[in-house]
Amino acid sequence: MNTSHTKDTLDVIALVGSLRRESFTRTLTRALIVMAAPTLHIELLNIGELPLFNQDDEDAPPPITQALRARVRRADAVLFATPEYNRSVPGVLKNAIDLASRPYGANAWAGKPAAVISTSPGAMGGFGANQHLRQVLMAIDMPAMPQPEAYIGNVHKLLDAEGQIVDAGTRDFVAGFLASFETWIRRQRPAVHEA
Ligand SMILES: Cc1cc2nc3c(=O)[nH]c(=O)nc-3n(C[C@H](O)[C@H](O)[C@H](O)COP(=O)(O)O)c2cc1C
Repeated sequence: MNTSHTKDTLDVIALVGSLRRESFTRTLTRALIVMAAPTLHIELLNIGELPLFNQDDEDAPPPITQALRARVRRADAVLFATPEYNRSVPGVLKNAIDLASRPYGANAWAGKPAAVISTSPGAMGGFGANQHLRQVLMAIDMPAMPQPEAYIGNVHKLLDAEGQIVDAGTRDFVAGFLASFETWIRRQRPAVHEA
């Protein structure tokens, strides 16, 4: 394996599929960011101000879309954290994905290792959104970490007023998820950088 590109700190971006002020998904993502090892630097992107994708503009999009594409290109990997809307991915997240996937032949996501974590106040933990998102990641050529799958159900009961994960089992699970993600990224990166 070519390890010549190995670097100590990985640059990861996180996209959250909720714009809600008190979003459980964003709160959980912030907790993950704090828990992540120093070698896994995660930056939460704001995707709420992006325009709706319009193919007429894909060759010369506004600066905010160009900035998204540039940030995705710089990143070593992407963490997608999503609630479930009508058994699928919220439009705001799909919109950001579409914006950075174009124009044809200039897909900014290509080859970036990804991880998916889905949430719900319900028991199923956003399973439908998680699986739909994985299907999309295949289309944009992102190797998505297969295991551990992360379906965080009853999410509203797992966080306290300060945004900390109060449930010890969930904290352990999240710590393992992050460690696996770092391993996954480092395993994929030589291929990414030689592409
Ligand atoms: C349009 C819409 C559709 C929803 N559909 C689902 C669903 O299919 N499955 C589910 O578990 N929760 C569903 N919910 C409830 C969300 O899981 C809940 O609002 C959750 O708090 C959203 O995530 P957030 O807290 O990060 O904003 C839906 C909510 C909205 C607004």
